[in-house]
Amino acid sequence: MSGLVGYIGERNAKETILEGLKKLEYQGDSSGIAILGNGVAVYKEKGKIQDLEQSIQAEKLTGTAGIGHTRWATRGKPNRMNAHPHQSRSGRFVLVHNGMVQNDAELKKKYLPEVKLMSETDTEVIVQLVEYFQHQGMDVEKAFRRVLNELQGTFSLVLVDAQDPDTLYAAKNKSPLVLGIGHGHENMVASNTMAMIHVTNQFKDLRDKEYVILSRDAVEIKDFKGQKIDRQTYTVNWDASSTDKGNYEHFMLKEIDQQPTVLRNIIKEYRNKDGQLRAGDHLDHMHIPKRIYIVACGTSYHAGLAGKRLLEQVARIPTEVHIASEFLYGQPLIEADSLFVFISQSGETADSVGVFNNMKQLGHPTLAVTNVEGSTLYREADYTLLTHAGPEMAGASTKAYTAQVAVMAILSTYLAERQSLQTGLDVFYELQKVSRAMETLQGLKDQAKQIAHQFLKGGKSCFFIGRQLDHTVCLEGALKLKESSYIQAEGYAAGEFKHGPIALIEEGTPVFVLITDESTASIMRNNIQELDSRGANICVLAAEGISEPGDAWVLPKVHPLLTPLVTVIPLQLIAYYAALALGREVDKPRHLTKSVTME
Ligand code: M6R
Repeated sequence: MSGLVGYIGERNAKETILEGLKKLEYQGDSSGIAILGNGVAVYKEKGKIQDLEQSIQAEKLTGTAGIGHTRWATRGKPNRMNAHPHQSRSGRFVLVHNGMVQNDAELKKKYLPEVKLMSETDTEVIVQLVEYFQHQGMDVEKAFRRVLNELQGTFSLVLVDAQDPDTLYAAKNKSPLVLGIGHGHENMVASNTMAMIHVTNQFKDLRDKEYVILSRDAVEIKDFKGQKIDRQTYTVNWDASSTDKGNYEHFMLKEIDQQPTVLRNIIKEYRNKDGQLRAGDHLDHMHIPKRIYIVACGTSYHAGLAGKRLLEQVARIPTEVHIASEFLYGQPLIEADSLFVFISQSGETADSVGVFNNMKQLGHPTLAVTNVEGSTLYREADYTLLTHAGPEMAGASTKAYTAQVAVMAILSTYLAERQSLQTGLDVFYELQKVSRAMETLQGLKDQAKQIAHQFLKGGKSCFFIGRQLDHTVCLEGALKLKESSYIQAEGYAAGEFKHGPIALIEEGTPVFVLITDESTASIMRNNIQELDSRGANICVLAAEGISEPGDAWVLPKVHPLLTPLVTVIPLQLIAYYAALALGREVDKPRHLTKSVTME
């Protein structure tokens, strides 16, 4: 959702913070920065980071400590007044905040009845409260801690004091916050490691109900009672170039193109030198469950649907897949002896984390399949499998999906091996084959562009239909198209289409059809004829061996359980070129935030 960055060190804080914010700006509606020096200078702007950057271009901000924020409006309109940082009445304390405080109205009434708030945000109450308690005679740390103990809700926040350019105060409760440990005299804090990777790849976690005092040479972590906490530093093997576009115009295309490399990385990470699968020693203690529940959101949910097929067919374990936000308020009957698998690129998605906390509390074992080391799910799950996709910067997820499906194939094989089952899936060999197939498909960008122009340039609503695994990819193809091009798109099980949606077919309605399974190919061809005779504009993507003349795309043949890894590539490319043709902001779709950290 919103993003925040705090820096203290020897570099120019304005440049360092702006660079971090740009890595976080999925579609911030406003942003702001505060630089410490001789007092504190605060600047805010409606719009993007670039707007803020431009408006402060001429300012000589040489300070080496400060905070910045990019806002995704929750309470109060996106405008300069509501943009962060917010300041206390005297201007001494300045604060940026992610999350939502529930009891701000009560706190305002109790402690700040006289104070006239300048914004509509809950955040302003927090910073006014720090000043209030400091005026009651507390030192700044005590006042900060007192406020933290008063707050109810979710927050990650960073505070600076205009009278102390050598200290930042940060805290976390149910909203992401990570500490970046600099190499020299510098330290950082941000809502995401990506915002700090240009400074360091060494991090420390901050857990819920903890705060940290940062100076140039030290970070001191404490709990909300003020007890000191020791926390280990870990290294993330991402470098600064992995968060740059390189020669690409957009991250989305770069990330689509990275998929074969990601697959090879995954193979490298999960295969030992003898060619055997190594899932990590910690997994060897895991009991083989009777049932698996996969819980996820969005694209990760679609990867879960492919994962279900793998777990059932390879590891022979009955598996259910649930949308996290639905599970949260309508828990199904859970079988004893179950494993909960949470799939999440960010490892921070609020709905998934919500279910995770509930299931942990009920004592169910949990396994996180995530891309972000140090994320909440990574830290707190009993077992973890990293997807090794590298930072995903585009709003629309692409390489995270294929990495998740590949890791689900590895997990399925691992669970099969633990039960001494014949898998029928030589997972590393087949993934190698997939990575080559992906490369072939990526060579066909002109074809994707032509399809996007031919079928989608008019921006008409469209459908994606297929059966079984193809249906799961249709859901993902439709999601990719709607979020990147804003075209109304629905993924449907082909057999269900006649039960209602067919009424929406008009002359020229685009319908994308996926056919990779020989056993349903002929029935799919019948479905196509039915649509064709009703005027649909049909684009068939079919696998080698079952394709027919007139099909728009022939897909390389891979193992039947791994077809989502190849069928998704043309759909990602078509979504990309449709977005481009319609002049959309490809990497930062409107209203969308990369990591949905609030329910
Ligand atoms: O970080 P997560 O995988 O938990 O995120 C889940 C969804 O928010 C995410 O996949 C979203 O649907 C993307 N915009 C899809 O491109």
